[in-house]
Amino acid sequence: MIENVEHVAGTSVLREVLAGLSKCQKSLPTKLLYDKRGSEIFEKICLLKEYYPTRAETEILKTHSNEISSLIGKEVIIIEPGSGAGDKIRYLLPHLVDPAGYVPIEISRDILLRMTEELHEEFPTLDVMPLCADFNQEINLPHQLDTKNYKKVVFFPGSTIGNFGQQDAVNFLKKIGRIIGSGGGLVIGVDLKKNPELLKNAYDDPHGVTADFNMNLLERLNREISANFNLDNFKHEAFYNEDLGRVEMHLVSKISQLIRVNETIFRFKEGESIHTESSYKYNVDEFAELCAKAKFSLKSTWKDSQNLFCVFYFEWE
Ligand code: AVJ
Repeated sequence: MIENVEHVAGTSVLREVLAGLSKCQKSLPTKLLYDKRGSEIFEKICLLKEYYPTRAETEILKTHSNEISSLIGKEVIIIEPGSGAGDKIRYLLPHLVDPAGYVPIEISRDILLRMTEELHEEFPTLDVMPLCADFNQEINLPHQLDTKNYKKVVFFPGSTIGNFGQQDAVNFLKKIGRIIGSGGGLVIGVDLKKNPELLKNAYDDPHGVTADFNMNLLERLNREISANFNLDNFKHEAFYNEDLGRVEMHLVSKISQLIRVNETIFRFKEGESIHTESSYKYNVDEFAELCAKAKFSLKSTWKDSQNLFCVFYFEWE
């Protein structure tokens, strides 16, 4: 397996955490939500009645897999940043004509290994080239791809693009453009703007699963970089920020307190929050405009039956 992953549990995590907690609006890196337990809880979130995005996107991929696959074309290399368990690419793979390869990029080595093995069994002729990496860093594709002239298509489902602010999103899209090159494709899933109450419920579910997901971040910091967060003194909060068009998740300090992270002490006022995640929502036009800034031109869109979610197909330059 190709490795260029930075140490997730090492010094760079500590550095990022200290930097985030030193800011005026405290924050923590969103990607830290997804350790083993976090990823398990996220899978539970996806099964919640209140969390519609996974079901809506799955409906789209199931219903339109033929059309999406024919736009992608034959003999292409599919690249999936943050492939996870690879649930969604499985809807497209059976419809793709002679795919030249599949490159899942995943930060969790265990998950990546397991999905690679599963795909080998399910699609024995598919050339799977797993890349263990943080897709937020520079992405170096396996060298065996450099010389081949196949069309490259990035598959980026799950509205993960929603975690990026506008400028970061454009930069990330430009990075995708550099990877796929001229004529390359992008299949990307995006959560749409909708009734704020529906949004709030999806991220502050009454079962407390999303709260567990968020709070797990503090447990992780206690364990991995010797912090001393007392979980009883923090609570999960999520709301739709209409001005910025994003759902925000925070961890709110219930009391005035001092927290130690490794060697550094941080002061929390009562009610002060740590921003842990943003999830931007778009209209179809807004998102197409954003992608145009990174030289992507829109070829097609598909929505679910309730117009909650949209899958876009773009080509670069
Ligand atoms: C995985 C980033 C798409 O923003 O909807 C779900 C993460 N956070 N519930 C999202 C998430 C809280 C999710 N993404």
